[in-house]
Amino acid sequence: MSYPYQIQSIDQYHEAYQKSVEDPEAFWGAIAAHFQWRKKWSKVLDWNFKEPKIEWFKDARLNITENCIDRHLEKMGEQPAIIWEPNNPDERVRTVTYNRLHKRVCQVAQMLVNNGVKKGDRVCIYMGMVPELAYAVLGCARIGAIHSVIFGGFSAKSIADRLADANAEYIITCDGAFRGGKDIPLKSVIDDALVGNTTVKKVIVYTRTRTPVSMIKGRDVWWEDEMLHAEDILEKNGSINFPATAMDAEDPLFILYTSGSTGKPKGVVHTCGGYMVWTTYTFVNVFQYTPGDIYFCTADIGWITGHSYIVYGPLAAGATSMMFEGIPTWPDAGRFWDITEKHKVNILYTAPTAIRSLMGFGLDPIRGKDLSSLKVLGTVGEPINEEAWHWYNENIGQKKCPIVDTWWQTETGGCLITNLAGITPAKASWATLPLPGVQPVLVDEEGNEAKPAPTADGAVITSGNLCMKAPWPGILRTTWGDHDRCRQTYFSTYKDLYFTGDGALRDENGNYRITGRVDDVLNVSGHRIGTAEVENAINMHAGVIESAVVGYPHDIKGQGIYAYIIAEGVKPEDEERQRQNILQTVTRIIGPIAKPDKIQFVNGLPKTRSGKIMRRILRKIAEGQTDNLGDTSTLLDPAVVETIAKGKV
Ligand code: WTA
Repeated sequence: MSYPYQIQSIDQYHEAYQKSVEDPEAFWGAIAAHFQWRKKWSKVLDWNFKEPKIEWFKDARLNITENCIDRHLEKMGEQPAIIWEPNNPDERVRTVTYNRLHKRVCQVAQMLVNNGVKKGDRVCIYMGMVPELAYAVLGCARIGAIHSVIFGGFSAKSIADRLADANAEYIITCDGAFRGGKDIPLKSVIDDALVGNTTVKKVIVYTRTRTPVSMIKGRDVWWEDEMLHAEDILEKNGSINFPATAMDAEDPLFILYTSGSTGKPKGVVHTCGGYMVWTTYTFVNVFQYTPGDIYFCTADIGWITGHSYIVYGPLAAGATSMMFEGIPTWPDAGRFWDITEKHKVNILYTAPTAIRSLMGFGLDPIRGKDLSSLKVLGTVGEPINEEAWHWYNENIGQKKCPIVDTWWQTETGGCLITNLAGITPAKASWATLPLPGVQPVLVDEEGNEAKPAPTADGAVITSGNLCMKAPWPGILRTTWGDHDRCRQTYFSTYKDLYFTGDGALRDENGNYRITGRVDDVLNVSGHRIGTAEVENAINMHAGVIESAVVGYPHDIKGQGIYAYIIAEGVKPEDEERQRQNILQTVTRIIGPIAKPDKIQFVNGLPKTRSGKIMRRILRKIAEGQTDNLGDTSTLLDPAVVETIAKGKV
């Protein structure tokens, strides 16, 4: 069995691609017809990249949860929608059928309404990876409230900033979260974020870890009590169904904050109709999902991968989506393989950083594990190096599973460039071909289309900055509260193009290889972090005068964070303590994920006469190159470079 829009051969791929470019409206209109709409669109696509204005399925009405849940109930009500594997392998697995998911999501919807949440209100969700997180997300979508999920590794200050930016009045959280051997006190972080806050009306707290929590009268309520109350109301009304709110296709579905080259994260906005079509279409085609397959994406729902490929895409396709609360290396480095064997996982989607960290444990954790259920492997989040690709292919896929290297971004909603499992060819460390509807172009600094050039080994390669010529249904629509920022960030660098911020190569066959960010955004363990954000945090530390942050190659994380810091009166014997103090500040301001791996105290930074920091030089030093640093003659004080190179940590 397959889906009506599933591409099943390379010829079909080329045909679909061609059609999507020649007549996008006919192409996407036909695909959208396979979803459930309350009202049909008047126009499939209306757009310009100048403002930008992007409207897909104009005037159509729908609720995404009816597509993710209700429409499956008749035939697949007792099929598992979510299989939850807890952090502790001895704890009970939870299998949530589509019927059960429907009931829980309706209860959440009723609970939110009981607590005053209305369509269009922003609800911040700060939870661990429990099924209730999926219920919370879908419960918001059911009533048209806009969710803003914040990853559990962000600090109280980051949460406070996001709450303020979105003017979110409601929060759903947990007492705590289990992560490997740790117990993270989520509610306590929320409490810190809410000190002095006067706008948040309700905080709903789900009990997971039984960590003691402070509950503020009139504001904080327990999830369990509220869900029971909601159930009573639904039953009194004679049904467990909470009718879904009909949304405009272009109404916001969620906000997800992500880092850019400025110090302030942006709230990327995705809307209901296009995002639904895009995540479902890409899920089915990229992974070649077949109904009944057990699909396991190891991401956290706090990031876009979890939104699109744990919750919305798989559920809209009626798939069985695994949700994992723990980490790959706890209780030992065989955790993924135990889960694969236990649940007979067919499709595994993970990140290069996880693969590299597991490679470090050798083959012992894999020995004796039955991985024969696996059919397809995937990676996302950063370029995968060839060594990791081959290790994954040989030891996990046992050379019989296609690996999909999926390139995409928070802003793109779903995969844009990737091979289709077993349908289009894979090429180690290349994301390969664009999906139907995706029109990449490589440009030089001036915005001219980059020209192919022969390389030393006889290949012909085009190299440039990766842009897109036209919108696909899942593209971001705006940045929350500041549309001009969206225009400036993505649509103004090059005229009439969406600029991804990534550099890429293209071979003669049209395959793309993503080489990494060309802006000041780092990718640490697949997490996006702006250098300016980290610098701002460091600069808040007492005694710090100035700092410059760059990335450097890191064996496991892909990129590590290297910080050059000018600080007052740091004596050599105090340096280590001062480093630890600065790490504390970064943890407070952003969260542990942004902690620099290396800190070098310096007396000066290499600056041009106009005062601009020459990051190129700092990057080279951080990468370990201490001579041949290129032209330093334009620097205000060239001698500073030598001193920094000598003091490299
Ligand atoms: C990088 C994650 C190479 C890229 C879905 C992009 C990749 C950023 C790949 C987006 C890949 C993601 N190959 N690089 N397969 N996938 N990236 O918003 O630099 O967290 O711009 O979205 O990750 O990160 P984000």
